[in-house]
Amino acid sequence: MCGIVGYVGHRDAADVLVNALTRLAYRGYDSAGIAAFGNGKISVAKSKGKLKDLIDKMANEGKPLGKAGIGHTRWATHGEPSDVNSHPHSGAKVTLVHNGIIENYKELKNFLIQDGRTFLSDTDTEVVAQLLDHYYTYISDPVKAIIRTTQDLRGSFALGIVFQDYPDNVFAVRRESPLVIGVGEGESFIASDVPAIIEYTKDYYLLEHDEIAVLSPDGIKVYDSHYRPVIKTLKTADWDVDAVGKGGYPHYMIKEINEQPTAIKNTVVPRIKDGMPNLEECSIDPEALRKIRNIFIVACGTAMHSGMVGKYVMEELARTHVTVDIASEFRYRNPIIGEGDLIIIVSQSGETADSLAAMRLAKQKGAKTLAIVNAMGSTIAREADMLIYTHAGPEISVASTKAYMVQLSVMYLFAFELAFAKGTIDEEQYKYYTSKLLETPDMVQKVIESTTETAQKISTQLITADSLLYIGRGLDYALSMEGSLKLKEISYIHSESYAAGELKHGTISLITKDMPVIAVATQSALYEKTVSNIKEVKARGAKVVMICKEGDDVPSDVADFVLKVPDFEECLLPMLVCVPLQLIAYYTAVQRGNDVDQPRNLAKSVTVE
Ligand code: M6R
Repeated sequence: MCGIVGYVGHRDAADVLVNALTRLAYRGYDSAGIAAFGNGKISVAKSKGKLKDLIDKMANEGKPLGKAGIGHTRWATHGEPSDVNSHPHSGAKVTLVHNGIIENYKELKNFLIQDGRTFLSDTDTEVVAQLLDHYYTYISDPVKAIIRTTQDLRGSFALGIVFQDYPDNVFAVRRESPLVIGVGEGESFIASDVPAIIEYTKDYYLLEHDEIAVLSPDGIKVYDSHYRPVIKTLKTADWDVDAVGKGGYPHYMIKEINEQPTAIKNTVVPRIKDGMPNLEECSIDPEALRKIRNIFIVACGTAMHSGMVGKYVMEELARTHVTVDIASEFRYRNPIIGEGDLIIIVSQSGETADSLAAMRLAKQKGAKTLAIVNAMGSTIAREADMLIYTHAGPEISVASTKAYMVQLSVMYLFAFELAFAKGTIDEEQYKYYTSKLLETPDMVQKVIESTTETAQKISTQLITADSLLYIGRGLDYALSMEGSLKLKEISYIHSESYAAGELKHGTISLITKDMPVIAVATQSALYEKTVSNIKEVKARGAKVVMICKEGDDVPSDVADFVLKVPDFEECLLPMLVCVPLQLIAYYTAVQRGNDVDQPRNLAKSVTVE
């Protein structure tokens, strides 16, 4: 989704802004632009396309000069990607960039048109620029004008603003959309996310809803919506610029696949005390766990898929009913929840609009909320009753890999704790499962090493396919959902995941020799059943890739390719098997020549519904 940045200090603003925008590119965008303050005026450069197009344009036409400015990467919502719809947008004395959606922009636009204003673009953002300009004409104090403007806005926004009359300041305000304020020596920054500015500073403030920041080279002032000064707490990122580079890998995705063992260690090890999980620092109390009636895991995309694995494990070990819901469905279906229910919201970014809305709805209805979030200080993390941070570090590739892996590891930690609290496993089992979870970083490392070559060979067979099917039963089915999503989002090959036993109720009619099937069969109790289903697709001509455990007896006529993972504690196998599924998706996309890290039409952080 859109990314915004801002800078004021001693450096060339355009250079800092373009550099910071490059680090936000992972969020997904289709145009970019900057504005800087120099020679007594605000100059703007903007272009449809990638940052390279903007850089080329500035090389030909000149770049905005100055030591203060704002920048933007746009992911089109209102109006097609074009030069004119790109941000920044301006009024007579105001120029701004925006991340979010203004829901009442039409009525505001009508009001401004009646007031004699004209518009160049189709965007909701230009309406905000003109509205702010309108109020600034009457209220010459920029902070007061911002406050008045935000009173009229419905929807979500993070705004970076420069005023013609304030050459040494950048202003910012937010509601719902994320925004951080970077604190440097003699310089200040704004950004949608810390990675954008980590090269310049690790220190930052989180802006709360409707707070206004005024940045100058000498420091930052923050006000609330009543113009009262606010004292902010300084935060420091615990990772550095290396974490947001490719570290010698060709793509972020493969770097992040390789970071998974470390990510699991960072997430799990600090939560283990005396051989057992301890989630007290996350405000999770065993007594409260004992009383939980129903659990709902609510999330989107990959994060929701981690919940599918969580459901199987929690129901099996803790004998507690778990429903997994897609956040965009949950929030509009008047869910039957209330006191005694726990809603687990899973989100890498902690800003996904539907997941956030689902969490707020659950709270309203009296349920307790637990957030499993990767991004520190994000809105979901801040608003949940209980919080377990995953420690994957920044995930840059749009296709989520290491975030999924640590979400799984937290699902297990929580399931073990819940089962022990409910008395459905004893201390010996509790310690056994925990010790196995502590072995997963080494096991995952082994699987990366042992399956890469086979995954590459398998993907060579898939690159010409038009459509693919992933099948499995139980935990293998839950995992297949993620394997299928991973493949389709980056390779652009259509794929579906299906419960293997359900195939013959309709979907098997799709099977031909041109429809490869990836069958996951790692659960002993279901192995024979899945093998029968594989035989059914094989008999109809499908090319089959089978993923199973070392030591499994694979009948010779069942699969064209067999990929084996180590024989390990079965409930934890999704953590191992997701690796070859990620690798197959990665190498298929690479061989098809796709933009692996920034697949078409996708954004990393989905802050609009
Ligand atoms: O930031 P979130 O985890 O809330 O994002 C949810 C989904 O948009 C996300 O998991 C998406 O499906 C993945 N990027 C796909 O790889």
